[in-house]
Amino acid sequence: MHSCQLIRSHIVRKLWRKLGLVSSAVSSREAHITNTLRAVELTSVRYPYLKRGNYSKLTDQDVAQFERLLPGEQRVLTDPSDLEGYNTDWLKICRGISQLVLKPKTTEEVSDILKICNEKKFAVNPQGGNTGLVGGSVPVFDEIILSTSLMNNIISLDALSGILTCQAGCILGNLNDHVSQHNLIMPLDLGAKGSCHIGGNLATNAGGIRLLRYGSLHGSVLGLEAVLANGEILDCMSTLRKDNTGYDLKQLFIGSEGALGIITKAAILCPQKSNTVNLAFLGLDSFNDVLDVFRDSKKHLSEILSAFEFLDSESLKVCTSNLQLASPIAQHPFYILIETSGSNGTHDEEKLTQFLETLMTVGKVKDGTVAVDDKQMQHIWGLRERVAEALLHDGYCYKYDVSLPLHDFYNLVLDMRSRVGHKATRVVGYGHVGDGNLHLNITSPSYDEEVASLIEPFVYDWIAERRGSISAEHGLGFKKRHYIYHSKSRSAVAAMKAIKHLFDPNGILNPYKTLPDD
Ligand code: FAD
Ligand code: MLT
Ligand code: ZN
Repeated sequence: MHSCQLIRSHIVRKLWRKLGLVSSAVSSREAHITNTLRAVELTSVRYPYLKRGNYSKLTDQDVAQFERLLPGEQRVLTDPSDLEGYNTDWLKICRGISQLVLKPKTTEEVSDILKICNEKKFAVNPQGGNTGLVGGSVPVFDEIILSTSLMNNIISLDALSGILTCQAGCILGNLNDHVSQHNLIMPLDLGAKGSCHIGGNLATNAGGIRLLRYGSLHGSVLGLEAVLANGEILDCMSTLRKDNTGYDLKQLFIGSEGALGIITKAAILCPQKSNTVNLAFLGLDSFNDVLDVFRDSKKHLSEILSAFEFLDSESLKVCTSNLQLASPIAQHPFYILIETSGSNGTHDEEKLTQFLETLMTVGKVKDGTVAVDDKQMQHIWGLRERVAEALLHDGYCYKYDVSLPLHDFYNLVLDMRSRVGHKATRVVGYGHVGDGNLHLNITSPSYDEEVASLIEPFVYDWIAERRGSISAEHGLGFKKRHYIYHSKSRSAVAAMKAIKHLFDPNGILNPYKTLPDD
């Protein structure tokens, strides 16, 4: 049989028969998360060396002042049970003890809040969708949480230029739905799109699965508005493709993790939506084959290649066993997802089919499927995008997000596996291989000092020796700030501290995050 016909008939036979299990997996996850929430240790208890900064403590009068500033229902939260979710991060590894969540709706309200906080010296933790993975989105002690959840207005969309302007609290998935009505897409896409805010995406310089094609947010963000620590509104809301007038200040806020100001608005360049999208899920024998197929994909699929992601067998296994997701193909040491996006369905399909046939003929690919409709595509993307969620079911997840030269890329997973041995539940590697970005994750039933000390600082030294980055896309947050010198020079960190001091002299914005203590 023709190899691609073989691929397609394989899908029909194997892919969809187990799909009924998906919804029950989601509800059991919710139950699991609710249970673990109760058990999350306070960050200040787990890390006893931490000292609360010299910030003021809230009084009833202060709360009343914020209530006058933000009139209406549910905009000033003080009830501990309302605050629990805001105090605890998505990974359930960091938990603060904030007693106040503020929910402004406008830039001016953000400005008024920060003026008060700066004058009275209250520490502030900016929060978007709280999907961050480095403990940056939740307080360490009792910082006031400033949530952008009510700043969710789309301001304008110019369908001709593709320029979207919106408030920072818009959910990424909602923005994508909105722009897609005008035949556009957001330039970024990630597994957390249903919850993360565009302001959070900018603040973390989020990467995701579209970076390979559309580049980083440093390129697609045309303008941005931010409120500085003293309440001053910094208007950099240009909607121009080209604007070389003075320093490009908005770039400082992209990836600043809430430490330089609160992002309140953004102007984003949205690419055209492709007429035709194809997705292949392939099984391979070795990581060398993954690299060979990546090289060949760039050469043969060239302009239609839109994503190239990989999972190792342990990553797929965690989805099948912890989330009961069905794998469309038999077990292999490695899997890749190749997505193509273009304007001519016949051309793209022919190109992909020919390419896959060649790969199978030369034995680089052992098995595979090509999704035939949206439902299958979503299922296959789910196998890649839900690994993070599946890992949480093991208990505790030690999460690393690294950039490495491709020839060294997977050796980190192998070295870590032999180092931690049976002390960990599993060691998995997956990620944006097309961007040189590996997600190394290790799990254990609960937080285990011994496992933690086997991993760190070994992992950071390993990366620094190969001149990689200890954070490719998640940022440094609370968890990784002290390792910044593994990826940045002393002079670079000193310049960052000087910039922080200039923008936030009282250090009220997201303390204990991103930069190391002096
Ligand atoms: P939050 O988690 O609320 O905050 C993150 C940081 O930004 C914090 O330091 C916070 O203080 C700051 N911040 C938030 N909003 C603002 C604002 N308006 N102004 C200033 N600072 C602010 N990340 C990737 O890069 N690529 C991925 O592929 C990816 N996939 C993910 C998949 C899953 C399932 C999950 C749970 C997370 C994933 N992430 C990924 C991490 C996370 O989703 C991103 O970092 C996201 O951009 C965070 O957005 P958020 O709105 O949830 O921000
Ligand atoms: C991903 O690419 O799946 C995300 O960055 C989340 C993770 O690292 O687990
Ligand atoms: Zn990622």
